[in-house]
Amino acid sequence: MKFFTIIIALWVATLGYAHPHLHWTPPGPGDVRGPCPMLNSLANHAYLPHDGKNIDVAITKKALLDALNIDEDLGQFLFDNAITTNPVPNATAYSLADLSRHNILEHDASFSRQDAHSGPQDVFDAKTFAETQSYWHGPVINVTMAAQARQARIRTSNATNPEYSLSPLGVGFSLGEAAAYLIILGDRENHTARKNVVEYLFENERLPTKLGWQRPEPLVTFVELQNVMGKLYNETDLDIRTLARRGMHG
Ligand code: HEM
Ligand code: MG
Repeated sequence: MKFFTIIIALWVATLGYAHPHLHWTPPGPGDVRGPCPMLNSLANHAYLPHDGKNIDVAITKKALLDALNIDEDLGQFLFDNAITTNPVPNATAYSLADLSRHNILEHDASFSRQDAHSGPQDVFDAKTFAETQSYWHGPVINVTMAAQARQARIRTSNATNPEYSLSPLGVGFSLGEAAAYLIILGDRENHTARKNVVEYLFENERLPTKLGWQRPEPLVTFVELQNVMGKLYNETDLDIRTLARRGMHG
């Protein structure tokens, strides 16, 4: 009896040691995924429903908090945006596939997906991602590199896609996405992230725990996200700031 008590006490002690992440399995038949490498990863780990469907506000907030320590306000903000992609009036849940609907949240000039004009805008595309990666010089990505990668993708899309557009919301999301990978996957004091950790998330749609990544501490807030978005914006060339704002054709 005493022996088992000790074993259980030891086991409980290890639980608090490092945040244990839920088991990862790839999407199977009938499962849907979308254009967000992080939400796809959370579905693969079953923080979100593994089928990628029927994601309501409570599920969204709990998944973002449990897996990534994202606070309730930011979770609510992201849900409020996500729900606009469900075409059903008064819907209370969305699916990862809804997120792919073009020019609602999904936008041109993604880091790892093709523009809707030239290919599927939801699945990872190695060629598109290679352009982004070419600006991540060295083993650590900093704000300048993240900003330059993003603006290169905007320049390329604008030059090659006759239907290129990026709405003000698209600009905000695009800046937010770059800030998100620096914050959630990286060093929050220096606003840097290890390149292999970021690449792992994009390429495997899996939390990069095996590379030593851990759930961020303390809570991730909207204020922190906006701070890093501002830094990225400041490192973006003036012509891209305006181009991104009005879009070439929109
Ligand atoms: C991309 C939605 C949370 C990181 C996207 C896109 C959508 C989206 C619609 C596609 C934009 C595009 O066309 O490129 C959401 C929603 C979230 C969420 C609704 C929460 C409910 C997160 C979190 C992270 C993240 C927590 C943290 C790292 C990214 C990145 C991209 C992205 C890096 C860019 C992918 C690319 O450009 O190839 N997200 N996202 N997202 N998201 Fe999320
Ligand atoms: Mg896109």
